[in-house]
Amino acid sequence: MSETGGALSGTDSGLAAEAAKLDADDVLRAKRAEFVLDDTVYLDGNSLGALPANVPGRLAEVMTHEWGTLRIRSWDESGWWTAPERIGDRIAPLVGAAPGQIVVGDSTSVNVFKALVAAVRMARDPDEGRDEIVVDATTFPTDGYIAESAARLTGCRLIPVTPGDVPGVLGDRTAAVLLNHADYRTGRLHDLPGLTARIHAAGALAVWDLCHTAGALPVGLDAHGVDLAVGCTYKYLNGGPGSPAYLYVREELQSRFDSPLPGWNSHAQPFGMRPEFEAADGALRGRVGTPDILSMLALEAALDVWEGVSVDTVRAKSLALTDFFLRCVEAYVPEGRVEPVTPRAHAERGSQVALRCEGAGDVMKRLIEQGVVGDYRAPDVLRFGFTPLYVSFADAERAARVLARTLA
Ligand SMILES: Cc1ncc(COP(=O)(O)O)c(C=O)c1O
Repeated sequence: MSETGGALSGTDSGLAAEAAKLDADDVLRAKRAEFVLDDTVYLDGNSLGALPANVPGRLAEVMTHEWGTLRIRSWDESGWWTAPERIGDRIAPLVGAAPGQIVVGDSTSVNVFKALVAAVRMARDPDEGRDEIVVDATTFPTDGYIAESAARLTGCRLIPVTPGDVPGVLGDRTAAVLLNHADYRTGRLHDLPGLTARIHAAGALAVWDLCHTAGALPVGLDAHGVDLAVGCTYKYLNGGPGSPAYLYVREELQSRFDSPLPGWNSHAQPFGMRPEFEAADGALRGRVGTPDILSMLALEAALDVWEGVSVDTVRAKSLALTDFFLRCVEAYVPEGRVEPVTPRAHAERGSQVALRCEGAGDVMKRLIEQGVVGDYRAPDVLRFGFTPLYVSFADAERAARVLARTLA
């Protein structure tokens, strides 16, 4: 699996030396040891984050002691019942939210449904005339499918537009707007503060999907007045395959949040077993049914790696890594073989680099065989995700070098 550069060693020496210097100066470099990694260059943390080293031990303890020995007592004694809001409060500082506004549970898809239908209900509460949902036309497919279904269920018209065109379609009929903070395919970062302000000026509610930004860059949910947000925890938050997602409901909206999926876990008295529904206070309203405790507690342990880490530091390294990778690609890859589709401007870049490349699926397969793991999205995009907690500048240089050799 080791990669020595071959034919390109003459041209790469300057960049390899620069990578070594950047790694030596990296204030996050010690974090890498907190993950289970090998000599693979792992650039797929924008799809599935690497395993934090403390998680297996914590899960073993949950299995043997909390489940195996305490059994049902653990709902109280081990804090299982309150895990969704407790872990929500652990995620909160990473997305710029004060405590009490995030619950963890269900998938992102399910949370998109809860957030969007609840947003339409709230927007219509004072203003019956609002009957339009605006959705990012370039969205990850699940958000689009759910927005279409939410529109049908609420009797709204669905308006798909690119995020840049959102301001032009807003009006007094807009109820809610569902947007992605970063485009899953290109890595383009959208203007969350600016678009949220425009949506509010139109009297509508803003729902943001943070799957590709939480844990990679500052989001500022409270600072920018975001109404509702959802995100997954298996990418930059390293929660593990299928780990539960989260739902943010801004504090001022919580008393009006009318979930389309009211379950016994969001009841004011869940053990009252009453036939009529009475919503709990606060973000708890976002809960539905019994939480998936094993995945949830794996996520909780995974969040320990954020101890002492500031998201601003992560962002600075992410931009430095993606800048450096783009430079290496430019220097090594034969002209015309790839075209970066990720914006150069820092204000428009998430934490991945997407390269348009003919035969991307086959190229990625060959990269993986050589120990460089990214992924591709049909029809022709190679994606390389940069997780600053464990990706090094040497990884970036090696990935570009192997790509160049593969395309040569
Ligand atoms: C932007 C975005 N939204 C939603 C999803 C779907 O999330 P889930 O499968 O957890 O429902 C993904 C998955 O990668 C995603 O990237």
